[in-house]
Amino acid sequence: MRIDQALSRATGILPVRRGLPEPRREALFLLAAASGLSEIQLRIRPERELSTEVEEQFFRWVDRRTTGEPAEHIVGRCSFWGRTFRVTPDVLIPRPETELMVQAVLEAELPSRARVLDVGTGSGCLVITLATERVDWRLVGIDRSIEALQVARLNGAEHGVDVVWLWSDLMSSCAPAFDLVTANLPYVPTGWLPTLGEEISREPVLALDGGQDGLDLVRRLIADLGRVLAPGGLCFLELAEDQADAVEELAVKHELRPAGRRRDIGGCDRVVILEHS
Ligand SMILES: C[S@@+](CC[C@H](N)C(=O)[O-])C[C@H]1O[C@@H](n2cnc3c(N)ncnc32)[C@H](O)[C@@H]1O
Repeated sequence: MRIDQALSRATGILPVRRGLPEPRREALFLLAAASGLSEIQLRIRPERELSTEVEEQFFRWVDRRTTGEPAEHIVGRCSFWGRTFRVTPDVLIPRPETELMVQAVLEAELPSRARVLDVGTGSGCLVITLATERVDWRLVGIDRSIEALQVARLNGAEHGVDVVWLWSDLMSSCAPAFDLVTANLPYVPTGWLPTLGEEISREPVLALDGGQDGLDLVRRLIADLGRVLAPGGLCFLELAEDQADAVEELAVKHELRPAGRRRDIGGCDRVVILEHS
């Protein structure tokens, strides 16, 4: 079967699953992984014939996708900041919103050889990206999930970066003093979880559930930031819509100074920056 024929057949099958908004994009993602070709190669040579093995693999994956399994889990990979990361059902699939954290951190003024702690590192996408962009930084990635840390460690090795991986319940195992703490902690209110759909229900609850108002872990983190951050040190937090005001208020009570916000393309205050005065 030719590439264009396979793509149009899959684009016809995938919408069987309601709420799958971009069947062609998903088909391209799966066919690229099945064939080892890039999405651009698939687009510019649509007349190319696929081998039987590639074709069979592709349609097996398309069938799995129609059951609600995320495409990134099927393929075992996802893209973040232009790089490819390994993902499994033990880690959150990195989201484009988190690229805003990377951008904000890279724009900040930090000392050379900065000491950086990424709390709730998951696949390691954030801290590994920082390690590749700032080779002199000294970085630590922590998580409460041993399985997630295994994925992060493999990703770190694949990207050839030197990050220290540590099991820790928030920052309880961490000694001062860091110049930067990044944290994309679970921030979904527990009551919302059943409403988020089949795909998200396949991701780890530990990566999503932020307690009654979504801020249980952020609250605990903020209470400990004064101990872990060096004076003048910064913390970048990724949050859900409508959480930024509450988080800044809380931070002030813990002698942290709100030092900026970053909006995502939807206009939501997605990243809050706090400074240890
Ligand atoms: C929203 S995911 C973020 C993963 C990754 N940083 C990213 O941006 O894609 C939150 C991560 O926090 C971890 N986590 C949850 N509770 C934790 C805790 N008490 N201490 C450390 N990590 C925790 C989860 O295992 C999960 O990997």
